[in-house]
Amino acid sequence: MATRNIITEGNPTLTKVCRPVTSFDERLATLIDDMKETVVQANGIGLAAPQVGVLRRVVVVDLGEEIIELVNPRILEQSGEQDGLEGCLSVPERFGMVKRPNYVKLEAQDRHGDWYEYEGEELIARCFCHELEHLDGHLYTERAYRMLSREEYEELMQQDTEQEAQK
Ligand code: NI
Repeated sequence: MATRNIITEGNPTLTKVCRPVTSFDERLATLIDDMKETVVQANGIGLAAPQVGVLRRVVVVDLGEEIIELVNPRILEQSGEQDGLEGCLSVPERFGMVKRPNYVKLEAQDRHGDWYEYEGEELIARCFCHELEHLDGHLYTERAYRMLSREEYEELMQQDTEQEAQK
């Protein structure tokens, strides 16, 4: 396993539509393992293959107890609404306000091609939507109804640091 470089906003790869995975081979397994290591090292919740420069429909999401792999994911159901802050490893030092469904159910394949269903609420539902949009070449910044200012961002980071210090 190895970590891969995360590309950032402005790189045209992030605006492309990714192709479905058709070969469930060693190369896919390596990509998924590398993406898992990369998302952990970057302290992210989710990561999509285009963010490491690979135009394939692959996402990893850290659920806390495990990191799930979503190959060729499709949303089956969504409901409710949540409104909150969102960030992205490809848009460093920015946050924006985005409305998302509060519940999302999806189906996806694993590295062997077997299909599974997953469901999530709140942060996980938000992450599912965010990562799947990467596969179609979209960033949350297009969807945010307001981006935080530099001052607001720094205030938020300050609060996080204070919370960390209290743990
Ligand atoms: Ni992102």
